Amino acid sequence: MILLDGRIASAAVKATIQEQTALLVKNGKRRPHLAAILVGHNGASETYVASKVKNCEEVGFLSTLIRFENDIAEKTLLEKIEELNNDALIDGILVQLPLPKHIREAKVIETISPAKDVDGFHPINAGKLVQGLPSFIPATPYGIMLMLEHYNIYTKGKHAVVIGRSNIVGRPMSILLSSNLPYGNCTVTLCHSHTPNLAEICRQADIIVAALGRPGFVKADMVKPEAVVIDVGITRVDDPTAKKGFRIKGDVAFDEVASIASAITPVPGGVGLMTIAGLLKNTMQAYISSKW
Ligand code: GUN
Repeated sequence: MILLDGRIASAAVKATIQEQTALLVKNGKRRPHLAAILVGHNGASETYVASKVKNCEEVGFLSTLIRFENDIAEKTLLEKIEELNNDALIDGILVQLPLPKHIREAKVIETISPAKDVDGFHPINAGKLVQGLPSFIPATPYGIMLMLEHYNIYTKGKHAVVIGRSNIVGRPMSILLSSNLPYGNCTVTLCHSHTPNLAEICRQADIIVAALGRPGFVKADMVKPEAVVIDVGITRVDDPTAKKGFRIKGDVAFDEVASIASAITPVPGGVGLMTIAGLLKNTMQAYISSKW
């Protein structure tokens, strides 16, 4: 069994980006700059955004974290996004999701300039992805593709089963895996909460991507021997024995599935780190495409 180690694969991606950035600076160019907007104090979002900012620093990017309280008016948030859209020195903009209920997520996403939409959530980027045109790919599916590439996981003609149909992970993942790409050339089945016979479909998979947010959902009896298993789950589960009072659990029952899979991602230390790698690559791409 191969452990698909996000620390190793993301370090390789980050090293390349760091070298590219160092070369830019050496040639007198400015550094790529990511602006991250965080609304409220959701613990998981705080952790993710802090990690994104820290990783920007590690590769030599500039980053700006903009914080708003939970009760911010939607209009104020949209005005801030417009300001960043018009700031020539900002390459990438991300608004951490989820947002408070009174703010329309779709409106926020549509307000981000497609050219700075390093999350790849804007309908223009989502549409380009569907048509196989160059676009920003949502960071988690992008990171998974980078992981498959790093470990040279052969996908041509394989059957991939994606569990979860979110715009952030499942749906773009299903599109990437069903494309004609070196590491995405599968027959894809997209399953979700209303899929009958889910276990039976999973047992037919050569590659499983579990992105439904239910800790330990994928059990060994749902996995074909020698399958490749990608775990996107990152649920906080209460654990009084843990230092922080919780543990991060994936969607896959790791120990039992690891004993039959040919390759598997751990949680933590798997896909989460690749998401950051995908975001950094998108930010570098936005910088390269910008006129400034
Ligand atoms: N919330 C969960 N995943 C993501 C992500 O990839 N980007 C943003 N902006 N918010 C998220």
